[in-house]
Amino acid sequence: MAKKQTKKQDKKRSKAKPSISESFAAFPSNDKTLFVGIDLGTCRASVSASNGVREVVPTYVGYPKDNISEELLGAQPLFGDTALKHRLSVELIRPLAHGVIQTKRKGGNNKYLTAAKQLTRHLLEKARPKSNQPVYGVIGAPARASIASKRVLIDAARGVLDTVMIVSEPFAVAYGLGILDQVLVIDIGAGTVDLCRLHGTIPEKKDQITLDEAGDFVDDKLSKMIHKKYPNAQFTINMVRKLKERYGFVSKNADRVKASFPVKGRPKEFDITDELRNACKSIVPGMVDSIDELIATYDPEFQQALRSNVILAGGGGQMIGLPNLIEEAMAELGGGQVTRVDEPLFAGSNGALKMAQRMPKHFWKVLT
Ligand SMILES: Nc1ncnc2c1ncn2[C@@H]1O[C@H](COP(=O)(O)OP(=O)(O)OP(=O)(O)O)[C@@H](O)[C@H]1O
Ligand SMILES: [Mg+2]
Repeated sequence: MAKKQTKKQDKKRSKAKPSISESFAAFPSNDKTLFVGIDLGTCRASVSASNGVREVVPTYVGYPKDNISEELLGAQPLFGDTALKHRLSVELIRPLAHGVIQTKRKGGNNKYLTAAKQLTRHLLEKARPKSNQPVYGVIGAPARASIASKRVLIDAARGVLDTVMIVSEPFAVAYGLGILDQVLVIDIGAGTVDLCRLHGTIPEKKDQITLDEAGDFVDDKLSKMIHKKYPNAQFTINMVRKLKERYGFVSKNADRVKASFPVKGRPKEFDITDELRNACKSIVPGMVDSIDELIATYDPEFQQALRSNVILAGGGGQMIGLPNLIEEAMAELGGGQVTRVDEPLFAGSNGALKMAQRMPKHFWKVLT
């Protein structure tokens, strides 16, 4: 009788949905395989590899414009900071927008896909795989990326990785941190803000929200505000982004922020404090609404645990005063506690690598 019961229990157990740790514990890693976690972001692409390599490259690809630039730079595409440095003599491509590879036209030659593939290959070269070493890669995608955009990511990995898996970016962050229960991760990138609540299982659609107003939106808004106030100032979106990355803040009190822009070729100082604060704050109400939605639709018994464990990741999470501002807004919704990840540059790719190393075989898509 006791034996029968055990058998029954075993059968029941094997039918039950695997827990998150069971799902990811079974991949037999061997010395031959190189595992990589890739965060192919709109602004920065990072890779973490099982051989210890960590690299980050701004998501830009530059193609020499003509014979002269080819003579100067060589015929090969340039990547990241090198592409940006030579942006006047190259066609500069930013392959991703709103977190996914841009698709200009159906079929035919898609320059964004080509650029994304070349950038992924470049990242992988930085991970230094040995010749003929199989490479298994997990790539992060926005929390609610469409099937079509995931397919484009898989296409970009073809010929670069041997097998691939696409995972939600904020889930990768949480997995990397080892916090998989009662936590709300907010990944504030350039193209998207991704929110994801975790409750000890692989998140479903209803657990995730993707917002299109993120770092790029802030840059655009800040450019317009500065242009409106100082119509004679000459600046590019790159200059504005750099200022935001250096001084970006949302707090009430701050030192004045002065920017130096040329006017008719002569450098002049401009006070951009208010514009910078307002542009940075502009993405906060959307985030707070989404936090509210994810908490309000959560199991009521665990809502308190979720609201006291909100974690900010991504470059935009570094804005000065952001955790406090979100906490203030959450006070009106019943309170909350907000912290930041320690390693915003690699949180996504580290988590993707950890998943790659633990993923059972049937999760992988083999690329041919
Ligand atoms: N200190 C900072 N303050 C404010 N914003 C910052 C700071 N550092 C970086 N950013 C912004 O964070 C964004 C980049 O973050 P991240 O690298 O996480 O994005 P991404 O992964 O490339 O984008 P996505 O996830 O949307 O595809 C950019 O908009 C960048 O300007
Ligand atoms: Mg990102």
